Amino acid sequence: FPMQMPELAKCSVLMRERSRVEETIHAMQRAGAGSLQVISDFDMTLTRFAHNGKRVPTTHNILDNRLLINEDCTRKVNLLNTYYPIEIDASRSAEEKLPLMVEWWTKVHELLIEQKIRRDMLAHAVKESSAMLRDGYKVFFECLAEHQVPLLIFSAGVGDVLEEVIRQNHVFHPNIHIISNYMDFDQTGVLQAFKGQLIHTFNKREGALSHAAGLRELQGRPNVVLMGDSLGDLTMADGVSEPQNVLTIGFLNDQVEERKESYINSFDVVLVKDETLDVPNCLLVALLLKTNQQPLETMQCISNFL
Ligand code: C5P
Ligand code: MG
Repeated sequence: FPMQMPELAKCSVLMRERSRVEETIHAMQRAGAGSLQVISDFDMTLTRFAHNGKRVPTTHNILDNRLLINEDCTRKVNLLNTYYPIEIDASRSAEEKLPLMVEWWTKVHELLIEQKIRRDMLAHAVKESSAMLRDGYKVFFECLAEHQVPLLIFSAGVGDVLEEVIRQNHVFHPNIHIISNYMDFDQTGVLQAFKGQLIHTFNKREGALSHAAGLRELQGRPNVVLMGDSLGDLTMADGVSEPQNVLTIGFLNDQVEERKESYINSFDVVLVKDETLDVPNCLLVALLLKTNQQPLETMQCISNFL
């Protein structure tokens, strides 16, 4: 690839149909920032998968802190980690995984509720954790906020923890909307339940239809950039009424060889073991800043992250 959009030629960037990506970007550029919304997953999409060879905690993992739960609870939650390989198993269908995911989330939430977690301890736990947003997160969040493009963060994680992570990174701007599993605290600030319908990796479509479809700020924005790390994340835009151009970006973090083919067939752009937001940022620059940039340049920018 020549000089201009380096991010798309990176060897970690895979595209099933490059020309479709180009056309979609071009159509989105023409429509402008006022037509755009970004819908993103949180854990392992906006946050890193690993750092220096160590896994970065999910919002659920952040709760594993003695300020919040005891040793026995940690042990019981860890015993349930056998569900993660099921979540990412390339040989099972989403339908097959669904009841098992409900089981995982339900069991963990029950264990957490037993711990009488205190709301005022959450910020401390996040501070002590090794939670980490992907490199380039500042550009990503600032760029969207500055151009008043709504960012819907759609997470099967824990909403209260997610909010604290973005707050502590100073990027919780007014253009952000969040759909997630929120904790329900009693009058004394002690966890007593989780609010609303449970969200797990493979039922985001239902959440999209019941929550996202009703968000006023997202209406009249038919162009969508969707980002996720699970095939289940692809349904996050199902609440968008009359979508025009949808560009999906998939982070392939784990089980790369096993899942590569299905990711390429499902997402428009697949980022393999990429811990940065360079490609989404490149796209935002093209969509929000250099709106008369040629599609080729955009692709070249994306390609340059070799
Ligand atoms: O934000 P996102 O929708 O990605 O959050 C869900 C992620 O949290 C899942 O991919 C799952 O691996 C992880 N998880 C976890 N512990 C649980 C339940 C889910 O780490 N108890
Ligand atoms: Mg995720």
